[in-house]
Amino acid sequence: MKDILQQLEERRETARLGGGQRRIDSQHAKGKLTARERIELLLDEGSFEEFDMFKTHRCTEFGMENQKPAGDGVITGWGTINGRMVYVFSQDFTVFGGSLSETHAQKICKIQDMAMQNGAPIIGLNDSGGARIQEGVDSLAGYAEVFQRNIMASGVVPQISVIMGPCAGGAVYSPAMTDFIFMVKDTSYMFVTGPDVVKTVTNEVVTAEELGGASTHTKKSSVADGAFENDVEALAEVRRLVDFLPLNNREKPPVRPFFDEPGRIEKSLDTLVPENANTPYDMKELIAKIADEGDFYEIQEDYAKNILTGFIRLEGQTVGVVANQPMVLAGCLDIDSSRKAARFVRFCDCFEIPILTLVDVPGFLPGTSQEYGGVIKHGAKLLFAYGEATVPKVTVITRKAYGGAYDVMASKHLRGDFNYAWPTAEIAVMGAKGATEIIHRADLGDAEKIAVHAQDYEDRFATPFVAAERGFIDEVIQPKSTRMRVSRAFASLRNKKLENPWKKHDNIPL
Ligand code: HXC
Repeated sequence: MKDILQQLEERRETARLGGGQRRIDSQHAKGKLTARERIELLLDEGSFEEFDMFKTHRCTEFGMENQKPAGDGVITGWGTINGRMVYVFSQDFTVFGGSLSETHAQKICKIQDMAMQNGAPIIGLNDSGGARIQEGVDSLAGYAEVFQRNIMASGVVPQISVIMGPCAGGAVYSPAMTDFIFMVKDTSYMFVTGPDVVKTVTNEVVTAEELGGASTHTKKSSVADGAFENDVEALAEVRRLVDFLPLNNREKPPVRPFFDEPGRIEKSLDTLVPENANTPYDMKELIAKIADEGDFYEIQEDYAKNILTGFIRLEGQTVGVVANQPMVLAGCLDIDSSRKAARFVRFCDCFEIPILTLVDVPGFLPGTSQEYGGVIKHGAKLLFAYGEATVPKVTVITRKAYGGAYDVMASKHLRGDFNYAWPTAEIAVMGAKGATEIIHRADLGDAEKIAVHAQDYEDRFATPFVAAERGFIDEVIQPKSTRMRVSRAFASLRNKKLENPWKKHDNIPL
């Protein structure tokens, strides 16, 4: 018996070494942690339970039968994050470059199946040279099996991908179908075709970092939701995110202890909106002042900054926030911000996370680039996402809510549950100047008359009261009491039940 136990320990020890000390050192020299070190940092201490530690590949091509490292380049299992269960896979770059074989894929599929069955999030730590070249089509089949499960798991359990090394070719499509992608700066990249192929086909010379590094994907392409300095920071931030999320679509998000008075009055909010309607202010200040302990977990911070998306807590309960940001493009909606916010709204709705919408939007951004780029279709995504969402929806209009953008931003008409406005709100078809120039075209040459008309329009329409008189605004509230009003509104909606008509699925304008 003693011998058997010793053998087990020896086999485990060998498996834990992955591709061996030389390759582990090389991984460290690149500033990267090993697959096992990453799992240790991600999960609560001592909580990891491993599956398939001894699984090996079955390839016999290219002398592979003589190299059969235990685990086959991916470590899989489950553990906890602050006591809540998650499934995890972590690709081991020291074993065949973390490349995906038939059996490597089977290990990932096993935890995907278990996560769906048992209702817990899946976190994938990606560090892989792609398809195991020696295996050919078996490896491609393995990818497709993983993809299929990504699709089935979508909207059932949260799926989070962290890119911590190479992720190229078709391999990018598994993370792409998960809910959130985070990247590590300087050591990770994602692209469908690498710099060499790009050069051959298009003659463009570009580095891997420029083509698919963290900066590219968080600022330009919006493929990634966040970028972090190193492995340690990335994993710590994933832990923070998981704390906001429910384990699956049948459960409510977790309720955390909170140390902040729900009725907290913030006098400074009474002067947040500047006197001049064209002067910007920072919407993040409002979010921080509403949130428990001022904690805002921002998603896609560096992309389409004219809209803010992320999570806060109110009375310890997770709330998704979507807010126009007047500091960037005056808070206009455009293609990028519509897509960004629509995806976020849909995530919240999948997982029963209530949505707070803060509105200061002068309209959709005009211009040929927007129209040619399909702003109609992309803007419709956000409209559609809000309209189909059945989670509690609370909206606060702080200043401008003009035109179609008024309708889009979780208006009463899209089944907003509580629609509040500050006294500074201006809810109208368009701004006073534009409106005057159209309805008083005959007076266009007379600046004085136009000014009188504009003032008249502003007095009559650039207020929250016309909308409030119609019941489109439930109440005009004092800015300083926003946290209290919004917290009470969400508290009253905790048992909300709203169902859309039966359908196979909708046909959101993609
Ligand atoms: C088998 C691989 C591998 C792969 C790397 N290795 N990629 N083994 N299949 N795809 C092995 C190397 O042989 C090496 O083994 C070890 O991993 C580390 O690789 P290095 O090249 O030394 O590391 P580095 O210089 O850091 O470069 C990493 C890399 C490079 C950029 C990922 O290895 C690379 O370009 N690999 C091939 C990438 C690729 O073309 N993959 C297929 C893409 S197509 P030793 O024994 O020396 O340690 C694809 C299709 C998916 O993925 C389709 C899904 C639908």
